[in-house]
Amino acid sequence: MDQFLNDLPKAELHLHLEGSLEPELLFALGERNAVELPYASIEQLREAYDFGNLQDFLDLYYQGAAVLQTEQDFYDLTWAYIERCKAENILHIEPFFDPQTHTDRGIPFATAINGISRALEQAETAYGISSGLIMCFLRHLSEDAAFETLQQAEPYLDKIIGIGLDSSEKGHPPAKFERVFAKARAMGLLAVAHAGEEGPAQNVIDALDILKVDRIDHGVRAIDDPELIQRLAREEIALTVCPLSNTRLKVFDDMSQHNILQMLEQGVKVTVNSDDPAYFGGYLTENFIALEKGLGMTREQAVELARNSFEYSFANKERKAEMLFELDRRTSSTR
Ligand code: ADE
Ligand code: ZN
Repeated sequence: MDQFLNDLPKAELHLHLEGSLEPELLFALGERNAVELPYASIEQLREAYDFGNLQDFLDLYYQGAAVLQTEQDFYDLTWAYIERCKAENILHIEPFFDPQTHTDRGIPFATAINGISRALEQAETAYGISSGLIMCFLRHLSEDAAFETLQQAEPYLDKIIGIGLDSSEKGHPPAKFERVFAKARAMGLLAVAHAGEEGPAQNVIDALDILKVDRIDHGVRAIDDPELIQRLAREEIALTVCPLSNTRLKVFDDMSQHNILQMLEQGVKVTVNSDDPAYFGGYLTENFIALEKGLGMTREQAVELARNSFEYSFANKERKAEMLFELDRRTSSTR
């Protein structure tokens, strides 16, 4: 089964590039850029990855991102993730980056996006991995700061397919970003938002009705509102669910408590994703394996989850058809 899940053609729709910064690369870049780290060793850093909640993680995640300084650093970070995608038969990716985490440290917007884009272009030419980059606004910062970030992105709209909203959900509901999301959508950008991760089901409703997002990131708390679950299923609003993230951040006590398969059975278009794999102990295949081990996910369910990742991606019609064909070709003998 592990081999089947690794080889299963998949797309990843919820991955923060800054969250794919492995301790080894973090230390190497720290040395390269003479950034002092408050850890004596890679092992000590790994030991710090013991989180009680989302904010515990975010504090370390923003601290770790400080080693990213040059365009080459952003390229190296992105390329390391793409190598993992290649090894796990991931055909399409829609990664996130957090421009404000870098611009607030004096790193130009251009430095981050040019390094990331160069790696994404190479993924296409070298491995045939297609992609669409999503830039996220940090919701603990102001609306003005989000507008400023959107303005910085204007010369690079050919490199970005959409906007997202991440960081601390508690105390920062979607409504704060209504106007900046409206402007971004008017500019032709797609929209997603983290909602219903630590926050209530109402945040999912508000992300849909106020921000008018095309997809919900996490969304697991939607389960508290049966009417919302029915709406998500009926309107085919996909959720990008991140099982290992949810257990590591104590959204669920244990994988056996996770509701992803329950939502799948209720007709919600859920997908599996890794969120911040360097911090949560596993890339995409590991998340599928965790669902098999913790929830008894069947092969048929794994194939349906992979199918959702292609169908609800932002890839164009032709690319979707190509990937769905590949999925059918690889899995038709297993049914
Ligand atoms: N930024 C990176 N990972 C995140 C998560 N799981 N929730 C909110 N913001 C994030
Ligand atoms: Zn996330």
